[in-house]
Amino acid sequence: MKKSFIYGVAVEGNNFTDREKETRRLKQDFENGQNMILISPRRMGKTSLVRKVQTLVDTKSIVTVYMDIYDCRNEYEFYNKFAASLMKQTAGKAEAVIKNIKEFLVRLSPTLSFGPDPNNELSVSLGITPKDYSPEEILQLPERMAAKMGKHIVVCIDEFQQIGEFPDSLKVQKKMRGIWQLQNNASYCLFGSKKHLLTNLFQSKRMPFYQFGDIMFLQPIPTEDWIPFIRQKFEEKKMSISDALIEKICSTVQNQSSYVQQLAWNVMLNTTKKADEATLETAIEDLLNQNSLLFLQQIENLTAYQMNFLKAVAKGVHTDFTSKEVLSTYDLGSKSNVSRIKTVLTQKELIEKTPNGIVLTDPVFELWFTKEWCE
Ligand SMILES: Nc1ncnc2c1ncn2[C@@H]1O[C@H](COP(=O)(O)OP(=O)(O)OP(=O)(O)O)[C@@H](O)[C@H]1O
Ligand SMILES: [Mg+2]
Repeated sequence: MKKSFIYGVAVEGNNFTDREKETRRLKQDFENGQNMILISPRRMGKTSLVRKVQTLVDTKSIVTVYMDIYDCRNEYEFYNKFAASLMKQTAGKAEAVIKNIKEFLVRLSPTLSFGPDPNNELSVSLGITPKDYSPEEILQLPERMAAKMGKHIVVCIDEFQQIGEFPDSLKVQKKMRGIWQLQNNASYCLFGSKKHLLTNLFQSKRMPFYQFGDIMFLQPIPTEDWIPFIRQKFEEKKMSISDALIEKICSTVQNQSSYVQQLAWNVMLNTTKKADEATLETAIEDLLNQNSLLFLQQIENLTAYQMNFLKAVAKGVHTDFTSKEVLSTYDLGSKSNVSRIKTVLTQKELIEKTPNGIVLTDPVFELWFTKEWCE
């Protein structure tokens, strides 16, 4: 059976629900040259949204360049990806890429290659080192290229929190900010999923990227948008599902986009004609099993205190962890111990702070953890 629901990778076309408001806002920002920061928990749909907006802008006046820097470990790895993406994506054919490089990066002799498959993407390896080009020259590229092309360039950088991991990160960030903020023909859409890292990069007054652009926290897709989406997928397979059951799918995973699609798919696999409560129960069990290995890895090295803290949160404690009662009921050690636990679990992205206190980050982890560890 062809998959009706897609999860874990960026989606497009009829696998993408509307997200109309966000699409419109991001598109406007692209068109107005407004710098933009997009933050959300994992697997909520950032990449899909940015990809979608890329297809909507008027290519006569705007060129969008997309890069994912998850694998860049230092400044120059970043510059190489940055420059190569610009060279490639502002050009159509290979000849145009070469022309770009000759024009904008004259001091290089790059290697270009195609994968074995004829449809395979052109791979550009520039090999830029500090001897060839300074950081400033590379960071200026979008502006220079845009001016030359007579278009506006929007540079979209996915998993941007990665720059926080570079050696000498603060210095690198200062250079970037200093140069990018003066550009008139290029703007930036920076996004990623490690919420606590990104929030630190953009919302802390001490940091170079403070107030660099509009910050948008991507919200979950509302249940009323999921209902027609999921119902239609079932109808295409000559199956039916009630609105109430779709609502339960959404609430079970707290509307986290990827899990909604994964759970809906599990439900469909267990349905012959009409999905019902029993189908959903089985589907949820499948969902927990599919993710349990990953969850086990995530808690593998936790200390007893850290586990106890997770248990407290799973059982509904969200604030006042240092009160006598919570400390002793859940065996969390001393007050100062609690703050250390919080730091570690936040870094591991198992918990996060919300206006209502501390919660578990991942809704399915929460279900799994409650079932396995809190009974
Ligand atoms: N607009 C949407 N409509 C329907 N499903 C969506 C939508 N956006 C995201 N999803 C679901 O969420 C999954 C993850 O989407 P995507 O990769 O865009 O998210 P992300 O926030 O970039 O994730 P990551 O944190 O891994 O980078 C998709 O595979 C899909 O199942
Ligand atoms: Mg992504």
